[in-house]
Amino acid sequence: MPRLSQEFMDNLRATCEVERVIGEYVALRQRGKNLVGLCPFHGEKTASFTVFPETQSYYCFGCGAGGDIINFVSKIENLDYIDAAKFLAERAGIQVPVENEYDSEAYAQKRKSVLELNKEAANFFFKSLRSPLGKEAVEYIKKRKLKTETINKFALGYAPASWNALCDHLKSKGYSLELAREAGLCAANKNGGYYDVFRDRLMFPIIDVRGNVIAFGGRVIKKDEIPKYLNSPDTPVFKKSKNLFSLNNAKGTKDFLILAEGYMDVIALYQAGFKNAVATLGTAITPEQALLMSRYVSEVVICYDADEAGKKATDRAIDILSKTGIKVKVLRISGGKDPDEFIKEYGADKFAALLNGSGNKTEYRLADIRGRFNLELPDDRLSYLKECAAVLAGLNSPIERDLYAGRLADELAVAKTAILSEVTAIEKSMWRKTKSKDINDAQNHSFARDDRVNPEKKRSLQAAKAEECILSTLFYNIDMYPSISSEISKEKFVTSFNAKLYGLFLEIIAEGGVLDTMSLGQYLNEGEMSAFIAIISKQELNIPSMDTMLECKRVLEEYKRKQTIKAVSDIDSKTLENFIRKIDK
Ligand code: GTP
Ligand code: MN
Repeated sequence: MPRLSQEFMDNLRATCEVERVIGEYVALRQRGKNLVGLCPFHGEKTASFTVFPETQSYYCFGCGAGGDIINFVSKIENLDYIDAAKFLAERAGIQVPVENEYDSEAYAQKRKSVLELNKEAANFFFKSLRSPLGKEAVEYIKKRKLKTETINKFALGYAPASWNALCDHLKSKGYSLELAREAGLCAANKNGGYYDVFRDRLMFPIIDVRGNVIAFGGRVIKKDEIPKYLNSPDTPVFKKSKNLFSLNNAKGTKDFLILAEGYMDVIALYQAGFKNAVATLGTAITPEQALLMSRYVSEVVICYDADEAGKKATDRAIDILSKTGIKVKVLRISGGKDPDEFIKEYGADKFAALLNGSGNKTEYRLADIRGRFNLELPDDRLSYLKECAAVLAGLNSPIERDLYAGRLADELAVAKTAILSEVTAIEKSMWRKTKSKDINDAQNHSFARDDRVNPEKKRSLQAAKAEECILSTLFYNIDMYPSISSEISKEKFVTSFNAKLYGLFLEIIAEGGVLDTMSLGQYLNEGEMSAFIAIISKQELNIPSMDTMLECKRVLEEYKRKQTIKAVSDIDSKTLENFIRKIDK
């Protein structure tokens, strides 16, 4: 595993506090000297994700994920260890360590080349659209009411109806077609040649916030051809789950984003003055995209198509966005239209009115339920009330509950107190369910975890506990190093994972290094790091008394003695006989 320099780690320690780094991704609140929040790595309703400022680490008692800030960023941004450290450094504005050969210079070079090639391709598509070849495509976008200004702003282009127009162009510019294949623009045929992937399509370049062309979407211009949209695959410069269409335009324009389904929606919205619209790239929204949005704004208005698929997508988006702590609103377009069609038919002002009237997620959910019932029918009224009460039971704020219960009471001519007591009843039963589920999950995880990282622990629980007590005590009380290390050698340890940790502690201290979570992160993988944090997070294990350390030592010695006796008694008689004969000689 690659190492970070001492100096670099010192800089990270000085500039990146764990609570600030993690606080950018997770809503944390103080609990004692620690902070807690909902774990970003598994779904949970009660906060078991804990941040420890004292050890600059985090640990989730639900799923067992744990580590220092580098582990956290690595996991949440899906970066390897070194890239995660660099990511932190870049954001903190500190000197990034010199790249070593592991951190492939070649790959960085490749990314640069792919970006250049993409730019050249975008250029080619742009010119083709504005050449005689692009006549039909231009007619098509004009029919869709895009102005020239808009077409240029989004750098729309056209991929000619040819198997090799782009290939030939790239070749003439000196680009390798193998690189174009890696960029997702060309594909290899059986004879070792290459052909264009995008043919006879209107091209939408996908541009990141730095202005790089990272991918393309291509739409057919003739009716009924399939697929309607063709999007670039993931490439060295593009992950569709981590980018958003038009975020480059939307960024910084407003304090909220409009999330639409399609490229054409975003473009139509932009043209109508709603520059803060973005779309996902041909897939449902991902947690990474939600986090990306939460970095730019504190509110997102979901504006999906009004059909059944759009509703499902809306529910999913509400869940994913809410997890990041972002405020979610939903804009509902009636009449089965998408935003593009709506604006074309009713204009920007009408859309602005919808935007103003867009409700928060509770209002959206209640309205959605309302749409399924006929309140003239008594049965429907009751079902409507029950489903709404379930939504209100999910709200944490009593004020909010009271507000919506009041509205429901008025609508149905029912007493508000009756509604609120229904809500409380549902909440109690929900709470029982999630509580026992969370506890079960935690126990299952904890066993599975220990099994993986420290498989011997199960068989030697007492010994492992003594080891963990020594580890935790040494970690928090370095002044005890001379006495602990002279009394207890690494060989006394029974389980190999704990022995490895103890060895690392002794080594780091002996070399005069800082014994903290970040320095251990240099030597441990993700699972080991979690197991290590689990040990040091158990307060009851930190017992700064030499007597206890000696007691732990005795437990370990006793364990080894028993193991030896057991080993001898396990030997079969034949072997024993041979053994005794050997000694006799
Ligand atoms: P128009 O039909 O031109 O108005 O496009 P739209 O932007 O309204 O698209 P639509 O609502 O049909 O789809 C929304 C988004 O889903 C598109 O922008 C694409 O990103 C994606 N999409 C649609 N059809 C396909 C397809 O056939 N394949 C893939 N991969 N993605 C698609
Ligand atoms: Mn559309």
